[in-house]
Amino acid sequence: MPHEKPFYVTTPIYYVNDKPHIGHAYTTILADVLSRYQRSKQRDTFFLTGTDEHGQKVQQAATALGIEPQEHCDRMVVHFQSAWKKLEITNDFFIRTTDSFHKKIVQEVLQDLYDKGEIYEHEYGGYYCVGCERFYTPKELVDGKCPQHLKEPEYIKEKNYFFRMSKYQDWLIDYIQTHPDFIQPASRRNEVLGFLKNPLEDLCISRPKSRLKWGIELPFNSDYVTYVWFDALLNYVTAIGYKQDDAKFRKWWPASYHLIGKDIVTTHCVYWPTMLKAMGVEMPQTIFAHGWWMVAETKMSKSLKNIVKPLDLIDAYGVDPVRYFLIRDMVLGQDANFSEEMFIKRYNSDLANDFGNLVSRIATLIRKNFDGNVPAAAESGEAEQEIRQNAEELPTKVHALTDQLALNEAIETTIAFVRSINRYMEHRAPWKLVKTDKMAAGTVLYTAAEALRIAALLLRPVMPSKIDTLLTALPTGDAQQHFQWGCLATGRKLPKMPPLFPRIQEKKAAQVKEKQMQPENLITIDEFFKSHLRTAKILTAEKVEKTDKLLKLQVELGGDTRQIVAGIAEHYQPADLVGRTIVIVANLQPAKIRGIESNGMLLAAKKGKALTLISTMEEIETGASVG
Ligand code: MSP
Repeated sequence: MPHEKPFYVTTPIYYVNDKPHIGHAYTTILADVLSRYQRSKQRDTFFLTGTDEHGQKVQQAATALGIEPQEHCDRMVVHFQSAWKKLEITNDFFIRTTDSFHKKIVQEVLQDLYDKGEIYEHEYGGYYCVGCERFYTPKELVDGKCPQHLKEPEYIKEKNYFFRMSKYQDWLIDYIQTHPDFIQPASRRNEVLGFLKNPLEDLCISRPKSRLKWGIELPFNSDYVTYVWFDALLNYVTAIGYKQDDAKFRKWWPASYHLIGKDIVTTHCVYWPTMLKAMGVEMPQTIFAHGWWMVAETKMSKSLKNIVKPLDLIDAYGVDPVRYFLIRDMVLGQDANFSEEMFIKRYNSDLANDFGNLVSRIATLIRKNFDGNVPAAAESGEAEQEIRQNAEELPTKVHALTDQLALNEAIETTIAFVRSINRYMEHRAPWKLVKTDKMAAGTVLYTAAEALRIAALLLRPVMPSKIDTLLTALPTGDAQQHFQWGCLATGRKLPKMPPLFPRIQEKKAAQVKEKQMQPENLITIDEFFKSHLRTAKILTAEKVEKTDKLLKLQVELGGDTRQIVAGIAEHYQPADLVGRTIVIVANLQPAKIRGIESNGMLLAAKKGKALTLISTMEEIETGASVG
């Protein structure tokens, strides 16, 4: 077999300022499915994802929080890292553009390009959208507004550094035309060629520090930082050893796929190739742009409060069904609509009915009629041969679709086959057959189980956990991963398994929906102020007898004294509390705790077993309102 080039797949690096939603999750799962598929074929694979951490929005958010931008990034990156862990993403590396090796290489690239005359200094005026962190030409604006954010951009005039992108226009057009796989799908390729019909301008790659400090300093002028896209795009090469580890870089580059959403086609299909050309680096093989996940035909956005968070779905339904739905329901290159109803419908029909029921049906019949041992396949008739032939042809078909990134079709083809196994079972009715011809019934069950095993194996990159549970239960010995017919061992025990995909009841669906409808559990300011939070000083504190946890406090609040019983005895000695100013909910209905009256509740931060009381940083009168 000829030595296959290693497989290198990337996702965009996500803006660290946001929290992951199903759009981010989709691209990442897509890359994960492809990586798992390639690894299963023993192909050397490198899967890269990460976060884009420089730029104005990060700087602004950090300033608002009163912390350093780096600290803000360090806090925010965790959301992505933990979401990917939960989604069982198997990335080989997670790059952060604040990684020091990345910053160093970006500076080296800039210096090289500057020395070669590819970057020059120039005064420039333009329409700048903070949301996109880029300049727009007047033509690109829609009604004078940024087409992405629908906000009027700022007109800014300043001296900056420019990359000679324009000189690569003809080369790029020619490259795209002569490499049909370079930009996919074709609709995006045509979009880029359309864009390139207009004169291509040089690219402003710097920002003056007077306006933006949070970025990679230009090596040839320390008054400037690098434009965030120029820094971000380079992650695809810095992460695999560009200018640091030649052998590593040569092994993985050029990337097999840069997976992106359609929102970032220009930066990836125009800026990036011209940057690489100027650097003298080979082009990636394919830049693949998928559509958007929409909610009720609308783009998800914070302001519309319609962001679907993958973690909420996972908590409710498990990781594998979420991965399955996202990959199954987005058609190559097109937008897709997300709704909980659609998710549940898809789950119940494909996973609970078609797949899950088949598994339990086969297992139950084997348990009931064959003592739980996989029966042998005796003589097979026409129906058996048809199933076997289809099962043998299925991997080639599904792999071909996967190689074209038509993952939704790959899944549909597999599930259609599963449905055909169900029809075969209906047709052969082994539950009846067993009464007259046990051997024939055994043949049917073996045929169905083996066909199901092959179908399951094909779904493994999409639903790794559930499929592994199933495959481990099927007695196949070392041949668990093989597509050949007949690997399922006969005469071996099929252990009892809980249902793989229990049906989702409508009630549960309604509950989750309610949660989704209030994605942030938002409340109004008036609702917040219904709780009267006030400062209070602790006058005395003593343990409540015969309890481990309770303290009885007398607190002073605006001249009055109140008694509060609080479960903090395991955390504080009474003497340490006296004289401290704390925060209490002053308008809580009085309650009796262990027969002792409590007039209010004190505020404490809790995590696991840790607890700390909320108190004021400086002295302030008691009774002061908190909010
Ligand atoms: N930081 C840049 C990318 C730099 S890559 C060198 C960026 N980040 S982002 O956080 O906005 O993420 C963009 C990517 O997230 C999209 O290209 C797409 O892959 C994914 N999605 C974000 N919203 C999406 C949907 N609603 N639907 C599908 N995917 C979308 O742009």
